[in-house]
Amino acid sequence: MDPKLEKLNQLRAQSQLGGGEKRIAKHKEKGKLTARERIELLLDRGSFREVDAFAVHRERNFGMDKQQYLGDSVVTGWGTIDGRLVYVFSQDFTVFGGSLSGVHAEKVCKIMDMAMKNGAPVIGINDSGGARIQEGVVSLGGYADIFLRNTLASGVVPQISAIMGPCAGGAVYSPALTDFIFMVKNTSHMFITGPDVVKTVTGEDVTFEELGGAMTHNSKSGVSHMACDSEADALYLIRELMSFLPSNNMEDPPYKPNNDDPLRTEEALNTLVPDSPNKPYDIKDAINLIVDNGDFYEIHEHYAQNIVVGFARLGGYSVGIVANQPMVLAGVLDIDSSEKAARFVRFCDAFNIPLIVFEDVPGFLPGTDQEYGGIIRHGAKLLYAFCEATVPKVTVVTRKAYGGAYCVMNSKHIRSDLNLAWPTAEIAVMGPDGAVNIIFRRELSESDDPVTRKAELVEDYREHFANPYIAAQRGYIDDIILPSETRPRLINALNMLQNKRDSNPPKKHGNIPL
Ligand code: HXC
Repeated sequence: MDPKLEKLNQLRAQSQLGGGEKRIAKHKEKGKLTARERIELLLDRGSFREVDAFAVHRERNFGMDKQQYLGDSVVTGWGTIDGRLVYVFSQDFTVFGGSLSGVHAEKVCKIMDMAMKNGAPVIGINDSGGARIQEGVVSLGGYADIFLRNTLASGVVPQISAIMGPCAGGAVYSPALTDFIFMVKNTSHMFITGPDVVKTVTGEDVTFEELGGAMTHNSKSGVSHMACDSEADALYLIRELMSFLPSNNMEDPPYKPNNDDPLRTEEALNTLVPDSPNKPYDIKDAINLIVDNGDFYEIHEHYAQNIVVGFARLGGYSVGIVANQPMVLAGVLDIDSSEKAARFVRFCDAFNIPLIVFEDVPGFLPGTDQEYGGIIRHGAKLLYAFCEATVPKVTVVTRKAYGGAYCVMNSKHIRSDLNLAWPTAEIAVMGPDGAVNIIFRRELSESDDPVTRKAELVEDYREHFANPYIAAQRGYIDDIILPSETRPRLINALNMLQNKRDSNPPKKHGNIPL
């Protein structure tokens, strides 16, 4: 073979080996995939095209000139998922622990710039010891270069982060700026400072897993959106997520016709809501019965479970679902659920994904914890998110729509396109019990038999106000439907709203109450 061609083949083989066979073996002993294996699993077979496989770091101090690895500590390029273009970077832990050198940052920035120009998502696979200590401020500058691009790309192309090892210090802020974070149980960790520093500063004893493991960030902090059983599971779930998303903010999400009848009715929905308003039911049962093939892709499953968010298809259209969950805290809105839903609503709006809201909300959660924590400010985020959203918006009130929460949960008044209610809906300022306590306080205090009198008044209030008909008389509810008809009615609404055009006043940007 021509020596020049042979040299290329040799260099290619060398770059494939990252930090070398020994380090790869050590890495795999921990049950982890290599940076390249992860890319192979993520993308369509054979679609990956690498760039900068020959890039090397430029550090000369600390003996670094003798430790050069082709491609340095990250593998970058593009490929396809279900035939659609995506850009990928995958940090290679076998090269200086995947740490971020100047050239590592340049490689990541290069594919992010390409993604922005070509309108395709960026998927980052993180497995890194953080800043390349030997490169000092060059590494810090590299992080900041990436943060800037994450921010500018936000709302332009979807950005997904998979955490497959350590992700610590300031390095956490690149994933934090992206749209969805996937973590792997037991092998991925995110924290600002590790357990040793925590011990020194606060005296707390905490393990890696407790401090920054997948379940911590999925159930406690809400930093992560998906807790995956394995790396392969995470990569598979990212592929599935992409099927609901457009490639950029100028496109519609993929339309995927399927064999589920758009006119399918579901008798089981007619008996889902219990007779007693205080009895819970699982809103996910309703969602599963209504969406195409019962296929609901839940986001943030373990966090703020009193609200449910996720993607599904209705008649082949990709939709974002936001639903109060009566099974948890009676579906009340609190700080965490407001933030969780607000972020999801804004993602859907940024990427042209219609919003379907299932509403059964007794109001906002009272108490000093919530007030001191700023429920006013956080609840306002959800209100703001629904108000500013211009995508098709449809609400189905299944049961309670009380108080301020009625306004917030995509009411007609804040530009919802279609508001439907089941006959079980109760739309009023507050629940019968609370209302009677306030408006009949004097009568009850003077009554000889306040218990019986209160029961009568509650029943009277329920009959007159705890129903959907008063709101329907005003046009705040467009129609009252049989629960069994919900699927065909929603699909009809999405068809009707296909060409919806709405906009907000020109401005630099709004000031969402952060
Ligand atoms: C350079 C690094 C490195 C780093 C690891 N390595 N981290 N090289 N810079 N930050 C190298 C190691 O020297 C070793 O090289 C190889 O990667 C594997 O590391 P090990 O320690 O052997 O692996 P392990 O036991 O699995 O531990 C992984 C680790 C640990 C937990 C990530 O390496 C670690 O704590 N690293 C330092 C983390 C850190 O403090 N980073 C800076 C955070 S501050 P050899 O040659 O032996 O294979 C930060 C600021 C960002 O990131 C600010 C952005 C705004």
